[in-house]
Amino acid sequence: MHKLPANFLFGSATAAHQVEGGNHNDWTEWERKSAPGLAANATYRTSYGQGPSPVWPDIKTAAKSESNYISGDAAGHYTRYAQDLATAQALGLTAFRFSVEWSRIEPQEGTYDQAAIAHYVDVAKACRDHGQEPFVTLWHFTLPVWAAAQGGWESETVVRRFADYARTMGAAMKPYVAHFTTLNEPEVSSAMAYVRGIWPPQRHSPTRYSRVRRSMVQAHIRAYEALKTVNPEFQVGFCTSQTLFEATHQLLQVANDYFVKRLAPHSDWLGVQFYLKRSFGRRKLAQKSDMGWELHPEGHYEVLARLARYLKPMYITESGLADAADIHRGWYIEESLKSIAKATSEGVDCRGYFYWSLLDNFEWHEGYWPKFGLIEVDRRTMNRRIRPSAHYYARLIKDYS
Ligand code: BGC
Repeated sequence: MHKLPANFLFGSATAAHQVEGGNHNDWTEWERKSAPGLAANATYRTSYGQGPSPVWPDIKTAAKSESNYISGDAAGHYTRYAQDLATAQALGLTAFRFSVEWSRIEPQEGTYDQAAIAHYVDVAKACRDHGQEPFVTLWHFTLPVWAAAQGGWESETVVRRFADYARTMGAAMKPYVAHFTTLNEPEVSSAMAYVRGIWPPQRHSPTRYSRVRRSMVQAHIRAYEALKTVNPEFQVGFCTSQTLFEATHQLLQVANDYFVKRLAPHSDWLGVQFYLKRSFGRRKLAQKSDMGWELHPEGHYEVLARLARYLKPMYITESGLADAADIHRGWYIEESLKSIAKATSEGVDCRGYFYWSLLDNFEWHEGYWPKFGLIEVDRRTMNRRIRPSAHYYARLIKDYS
């Protein structure tokens, strides 16, 4: 077995809108509008065109109900973060990635909510108190309603406001936080919103798509600079989604490369997120997640090896699977870590791994039925139950440390 580097971080990841509950942003509005259609049209062919869900009979009832598509009180993590961090600590986790909900911080344009800022400072402090290095994401897919009304990332004002918000959070969190992420997976959100027209604001427009991508590049650069003026020591990066393609479809790599190429020169590190390998032929034997995604944990090696050319420290800031029965998760984490260790043993600079996700959560347009959590959440009682694979991850952490 290859070793992982000394001080390698073993973490878990979350995002505000998916776990907090009680948010009001562009997604909450979109959910209200879209839930009836999403429920009515739900089929065994689930997300991202990855093929049929192997567990459709088990999820059908949930997938066909409107409430599945309303984020509502989510996993109640806004008020339960200390409890959740204590559980993560008991499992031996040493890092925690969470996002700040911009719509809470700046509910009206130019007006900052001091209590909301204090809340996230508390979360960062709680990470430290519970032995976990905080990694803070500033934008994980949701926009304040006022920003969406101005055209979201199409608007120059929104880009400027984003940099102000980044500076504000940097100044407030400085005592506790060293690592910031500006944008989460800009390649996914821009394509889902402006090419596939599924996510808000649901457009099919090549012109808007290219405008939004250019503007997200600006948003990152300006937020990067804003954070660095607060503290030149901050380590600022962004999170990129990397899909693997079969050798015959290497041209599709352009989708992976757009943002990395442009943002890496303005980043101190890269957040690498890996879930999917796209096979275009029939691969009947491949294991599938509940969402029908082919499980290919050995792909971490290839993704990291490819990105090593940017000469930046990397963290796997997300990697995981929907697996309600917890059949594959332990194996998947073990193989992921092996694959990362193989890369680091060859000199690739990867410094941590964050399993997605600590908690069962709101999986965007698929809603609540996909279960990604190390911790299962009963949304009626908000009770938590640690899945066996979380204990398995805890064992792996011990073995590697
Ligand atoms: C996103 C998460 C999402 C996960 C699983 C990533 O694209 O950053 O918000 O839940 O993948 O689909």
